[in-house]
Amino acid sequence: ENDRLIMAFESSADETSVAIVKNGNEIVSLETATQIKSHQRFGGIVPEVASRHHIEEVTILADAALSDAGLTYQDLTAIAVTQGPGLVGALLIGVTAAKTIAWAHHLPLIPVIHLAGHISAANFVQPIVYPALALMVSGGHTELVWMPSEFEYLVIGDTRDDAAGECFDKVGRVMGLTYPAGKTIDQMAARGSENYDLPRALMNDQQYDFSFSGLKSAVINLLHNADQRQETVNLEDLATSFQHAVMDVLLAKTKAALLAYPAKTFIVAGGVAANQELRSRLKALLATFPDTTFTPVPMNLAGDNAAMIGAAGDIAYRHGVRADWSLNANPGLEF
Ligand code: KG4
Ligand code: ZN
Repeated sequence: ENDRLIMAFESSADETSVAIVKNGNEIVSLETATQIKSHQRFGGIVPEVASRHHIEEVTILADAALSDAGLTYQDLTAIAVTQGPGLVGALLIGVTAAKTIAWAHHLPLIPVIHLAGHISAANFVQPIVYPALALMVSGGHTELVWMPSEFEYLVIGDTRDDAAGECFDKVGRVMGLTYPAGKTIDQMAARGSENYDLPRALMNDQQYDFSFSGLKSAVINLLHNADQRQETVNLEDLATSFQHAVMDVLLAKTKAALLAYPAKTFIVAGGVAANQELRSRLKALLATFPDTTFTPVPMNLAGDNAAMIGAAGDIAYRHGVRADWSLNANPGLEF
């Protein structure tokens, strides 16, 4: 049986990325262009700016991904692309590029849900064994996803307001940090102490939903009140206090979900999965679940990239998913 070689496109937010993935678990090539610098002075992603960058980069990255791999389009098995969720104008660039290449080279076209991509990055570490449970924590999403078998995704917990990464970014903004602030807060938190008392929402309900807007408001109020009283706030201590509050909630909900949904594999994925406190606390928690293998996605594949879309595209391809030429971007796509 021949190897499957899938070329994958990701353009849902502020990274343009093209990858070639072999058999769903090996990165043959990965080319990513980040636009973070263009958005930083606005404190967040500007959709029109994002689309323009994607247009400039996408064909260059596709050519580079092929030449890095020493392949031609004739060698490929299929084209996979992020269909959603994300910014519609940004998604459209990837979808249009993927459709065009698939049509021109007579290749199957595979639509991928961005969140399935994040989770599937675990397959680059070791094969996901099902049933599996994933904590998906990114700038746009905070979900606990139960996967009874491959290609079956059930959202058992979701955020009722802000996503965890969004909360890091918004809190970072009021602390005067540059966007995106997650990594900076992570580093500052390692140096501070937990000297500020901040709320942890929905800790005692029996469900797996999250809420982070109250925590965000508490940090905004704390800084505002200190400013009014001309008191100084120790930003490292605030970072530690804030991060502990986020992680206490993520860990409590994960533990409850692991108890109710016995999984063979537990995955943490998405941009926030790069967080050091989250990784180490999850590692300690999973040590108490001997039947569950802990698979954090690699640090360099936690944030948005096309390799993860290739991994998810390979799963979808094997399950018979094919799109026709009417495929459109879907900014609100869900599992
Ligand atoms: O998955 P991702 O690259 O994009 C989305 O699909 O949203 O996630 C980006 C998010 C941002 O909110 C960023 O601040 C956060 O991931 N992030 C972190 C860390 N690194 C990135 N949050 C906490 N700790 C980190 N080390
Ligand atoms: Zn993402």
